[in-house]
Amino acid sequence: MYRGRRLRKHQVIRSMMQETRLHKADLIYPIFVVEGSQIKEEISSMPDVYHYSIDRLHEVLDEMKACGIHSCILFGIPEHKDEVGSVAYQQDGIVQRAISFIKEYAPEMYVIGDVCMCEYTSHGHCGILTEDGYVDNDKTLEYLSKIAVSYAKAGADMVAPSDMMDGRIGALRNALDENGYETVAIMAYSAKYASAFYGPFRDAANSAPAFGDRKTYQMDPANSNEAMIEADLDIAEGADIIMVKPALSYLDIIRRFKDNYDLPIAAYNVSGEYSMLKEAVKKGLLSEDAIYEAVMSIKRAGATIIITYFAKDIAKLINTKK
Ligand code: PBG
Repeated sequence: MYRGRRLRKHQVIRSMMQETRLHKADLIYPIFVVEGSQIKEEISSMPDVYHYSIDRLHEVLDEMKACGIHSCILFGIPEHKDEVGSVAYQQDGIVQRAISFIKEYAPEMYVIGDVCMCEYTSHGHCGILTEDGYVDNDKTLEYLSKIAVSYAKAGADMVAPSDMMDGRIGALRNALDENGYETVAIMAYSAKYASAFYGPFRDAANSAPAFGDRKTYQMDPANSNEAMIEADLDIAEGADIIMVKPALSYLDIIRRFKDNYDLPIAAYNVSGEYSMLKEAVKKGLLSEDAIYEAVMSIKRAGATIIITYFAKDIAKLINTKK
């Protein structure tokens, strides 16, 4: 009789049999930067996640270093928003200054800039609007390209367009190459779904759309084949990494990517997924192991790298596990 329990009898053999492992090197920590000074303010919808002004950014970088996380993705909350999100691509914009600061303070840190307009537009949509309120795809590409180039100029190692416009990967690759940034990588939010799990992020980034929703550009949660079409296009246009977002409700998509593509696959364990679990652990409804298990499921599904607000928690759990 096959007795599966033989190989579960002792911790050492259980550990040898472990098929999937989380490594600190796989994790990317999202950071929210705000204008102003002396700000470290907890985001009400995201326990233990903070808004930082640039003069206090070193605090989170020190924490990351201490627990072994060496990569971050930046989101900026500007003071000024307008119809075309013009602050998004200014060289002295919030993310651009944060990138330069991090590269100076912690040169070993790998810095990714999220490229999108929703934090910068007064209407909260991820692009430039036509007169009738539709997001103008090709016009938006011009702006996204400017943002990406400004991040590269500030010193970003990678840019990650999260807008879901058609043709953005090709547009960004061209713009980066033309400006001499052919070594700056692109992580494509290839399958980004129109998800309710972004709720806490939109509070944090003050980026909820003022009218309507994002369904004319983000994907329908019911669709899987469409994710493959998006990934094919992003790869053809020059993506270095393809992403699935959110992660936990889309493990099947991560697995489909893993089975079909040789490119590295990123998964974004988003704000709603974070806050639900974090609250439950804080309230004592679940033990901290639930966090480990959830993030492990993303890895097991096939993600190469995981963007997660749990990065520091996971690193600490890894450090304490046998
Ligand atoms: C910007 C962007 C969003 C997220 C990452 N980049 C929000 C959105 O599309 O509404 C969500 C991240 C999260 O929920 O953690 N477009």
